[in-house]
Amino acid sequence: MSTTNTDETDEERPETDDDELIAEHEKQLNDLLAEVEGPDAPEAESTLPSLGLDMSRRGLMKAGAAAGAIGTLAGCSGIGSSGAATDENSGSNDVPEHTVAPGEHDTYYGFWSGGHSGEIRVMGMPSMRELTRIPVFNPEPAKGYGFSNDTSGMLEEAGDYTWGDSHHPSLSETGGKYDGEYIFVNDKANGRVARVNLNYFETDAILDIPNVQSVHGCCIQSPDTNYVFANSEFRTPLPNDGSDINNPDEYVSLFSAIDPETMDVRWQVEVDGNLDIVDSDKDGRWVLASAYNDEEGVEIEEMTKNDRDFVKAFDVPAIQELVDAGDYREKVNGIPIVDGTKASSHNSGDSPVVRYIPTPKSPHCVEVTPDGNYGIVAGKLSPTVSIIDIDKLDTASDPVDTIVGQPKLGLGPLHTTYDGRGHGYTSLFIDSQVVKWDIEAAVNAEKGSEEPILGKIDVHYNPGHIQAVQAMSSEPTGDWLVVLNKLSKDRFLPVGPIYPDNDQLVYIGNDKDDDSGGMELVSDHPVYPEPHDAIFAHKDKLDPARIWDQADYEGEKEYIGEGDSGVERLDDSTVDVKAYVKRSEFGLRDFTVKEGDEVRLTATNIEGSQDIVHGFAIPEYDVHLALAPKDTREATFTAEKPGVYWIYCTYFCSALHLEMRSRMIVEPRE
Ligand code: CUA
Repeated sequence: MSTTNTDETDEERPETDDDELIAEHEKQLNDLLAEVEGPDAPEAESTLPSLGLDMSRRGLMKAGAAAGAIGTLAGCSGIGSSGAATDENSGSNDVPEHTVAPGEHDTYYGFWSGGHSGEIRVMGMPSMRELTRIPVFNPEPAKGYGFSNDTSGMLEEAGDYTWGDSHHPSLSETGGKYDGEYIFVNDKANGRVARVNLNYFETDAILDIPNVQSVHGCCIQSPDTNYVFANSEFRTPLPNDGSDINNPDEYVSLFSAIDPETMDVRWQVEVDGNLDIVDSDKDGRWVLASAYNDEEGVEIEEMTKNDRDFVKAFDVPAIQELVDAGDYREKVNGIPIVDGTKASSHNSGDSPVVRYIPTPKSPHCVEVTPDGNYGIVAGKLSPTVSIIDIDKLDTASDPVDTIVGQPKLGLGPLHTTYDGRGHGYTSLFIDSQVVKWDIEAAVNAEKGSEEPILGKIDVHYNPGHIQAVQAMSSEPTGDWLVVLNKLSKDRFLPVGPIYPDNDQLVYIGNDKDDDSGGMELVSDHPVYPEPHDAIFAHKDKLDPARIWDQADYEGEKEYIGEGDSGVERLDDSTVDVKAYVKRSEFGLRDFTVKEGDEVRLTATNIEGSQDIVHGFAIPEYDVHLALAPKDTREATFTAEKPGVYWIYCTYFCSALHLEMRSRMIVEPRE
């Protein structure tokens, strides 16, 4: 029962008798085992969906984690954590240094989706140091995001929500390689997809996808980013306007194809069942979507009733041809809706545009191997993953024949990532482990075989996403892997009832013949709730700007140079205010407007040297512009409160930062 830091937490845990706690856990575990043991177990009449798994081989500690995963155990601090310790693994001679010395740079950029923080976080890898955050679906004053006219206008047009649930970041590719131009990410909450410009590390477009409610899966088309694909997870009436509300049979899930340049939806495909995660093949043809609710249920018991769900494989060029020929069912909110259901005429012949591939029980994820040969579908409620041979999507007459392997990897397989050396790494949600396995061996083995397993390591609490470096592109580098764990309740100093989540860094560069297959857990990182997924690119793939290029906003915004500051009254109730900003002055020492005026403020940071950022904050008016060198931002507001308002700079810019001030004087109107 020894864990890495149980000793510490035991000391701090108030008056809990361990024996009693363990006995309580054992009882809960036995109850749980009865529930999950499947149809053979006499006590299987549970309201919980039967997992159909053999859990009895697992020890108490692992099953404790399983129970935590299913939510039946409360307060299992120090009990559910498994035995692999950072201490045991660190210091190995074979693992390269993962810390980065002062002044040195990391090798990789990591982009974490921020979950319901709505943002993307940028970390250095392998140090896991947080470099910056890119607000996407959330207003963020530190970057002035949602405070300037361009960013607040973008958020307003995209539904005017103040939050989003960012899940799956996807880096743009050219020729199967990350091109460093964009990162796309979905908003599960509000059915949106955003584009982040990686020159400026700033969100530059958000699309509120018509006709869908929740977007879960999101990926770019590979090898070239000609589309971004988005899966709607929640089935809703089409259109969701009050019709069919009590008729769930009529609800639909849609697969959306988005133009990455214009950020408009080109077309949508209606399917049977729902849609979960999505990934593209490497040839620009097939896109695979996992799904978990083929039953089309609206309640959990209905959703998990069947033994099979269907992965949908979309033949993208064929669907585009149908749309180009006008061969779609209807337009809803201006979007062509292609009938991709099983009964569709487009799916009845030899070349179906959507193939329905049966996979075991509510699978969660699909990830295409870097060589483009296979799509790996993790079983979630099945201990297997299914290997879909992508070439066979075109040739197999029975979709079942596209499944060429089905190794049994462990309990609760969720996501798979790759090292480019023929290995898959799958997170096991219930086992709280990572399993390394041989993909070709699994293709050659009997279905259900455990032979392809090369090793397992314990991670701490139930893992969800797992990503190896550059694994989503055609050129994985196979050295580092991050496991995004949840429920890290006893890993860090307590910080109140909402715990930090936990990312763990694993070195995968050694293919050793040991229990772990050479995997080594090297570090632990608390993260702000709740990162969902991550993607990594070598630092040479990106070349971010250090200073704004005026040409990038010319025609949209005016550059306010040193001689251009001033106040111009446009009419009785509208005033233009223009100010340059530099160390340690605003171009206007003060300016005067009248109560009730609409103030149109334009400000430019005229600094030519990188790294000198200024803020333009007006107290009590909720105005805050963040101005990077050579950047211009605008804020429009109504001066409804007469008085004096001290404008100040929010970024420390020089020794005279505090004195860098101006005044907005709002004269009372007679
Ligand atoms: Cu400019 Cu502080």
